[in-house]
Amino acid sequence: MIGLHKDTPKFITLEGGEGAGKSTQIKLLDDWLLEQGLATCLTREPGGSPGAEEIRNLVLKGATDRWSGMTEAMLITAGRAEHVENRIKPALEKGEWVVCDRFFDSSIAYQGAGRGVGVERVKELQTLALGDFTPDLTIILDLPVKIGLSRAIARESQKSDMEDRFERMDVSFHEDLRAAYLKIAKDEPKRCVVLNADTTPEALQHEIRAVITGKFGA
Ligand code: TMP
Repeated sequence: MIGLHKDTPKFITLEGGEGAGKSTQIKLLDDWLLEQGLATCLTREPGGSPGAEEIRNLVLKGATDRWSGMTEAMLITAGRAEHVENRIKPALEKGEWVVCDRFFDSSIAYQGAGRGVGVERVKELQTLALGDFTPDLTIILDLPVKIGLSRAIARESQKSDMEDRFERMDVSFHEDLRAAYLKIAKDEPKRCVVLNADTTPEALQHEIRAVITGKFGA
């Protein structure tokens, strides 16, 4: 036991560009939290609750120019408001540690920076939808764009549902995302930690656990 407590459940988000390995890391993290005797709620965005999953389908499928950046930001943020009220907050109230695959930093990076809506406008939208509700910890998995995209392309053959609108954006879009994430981390050092994802899954998981223990362990 390393002193993570059920009576002070935390809301942890994992962020990063395409191919950073978030899904693998979240599963390994969940195994470890359960070993500590904690109850967990694993969730994701866009989506995470029935209504928000419907919005996910609208946003992630189809032509890359299907929506304007602002429309995307508003759709995803509407889903987020629903997800927070109906899944994340109730889970925290029950004492569950919530681990979410992407959250509002994805909107700031993808829509605010990548799609050109503007970081400040997307931040304002988050405040409108969520008030001051914020993750306790955000772990940003960082890696060079070329490595991330080649990982994502290798994985694409396994995807059945064509949720790849953003993977198909050009390299400069992904460079903008990476820069936006690093800026978020610089601006909010108390909430955000950047980890180098250009390593083995085991080594990365070891670092994630060390960050959580350092921040929340007794
Ligand atoms: P995933 O591939 O990690 O499941 O994420 C789905 C895609 O949705 C990914 O390309 C990033 C994108 N996305 C946004 O553009 N804005 C957001 O706010 C979120 C949560 C995801």
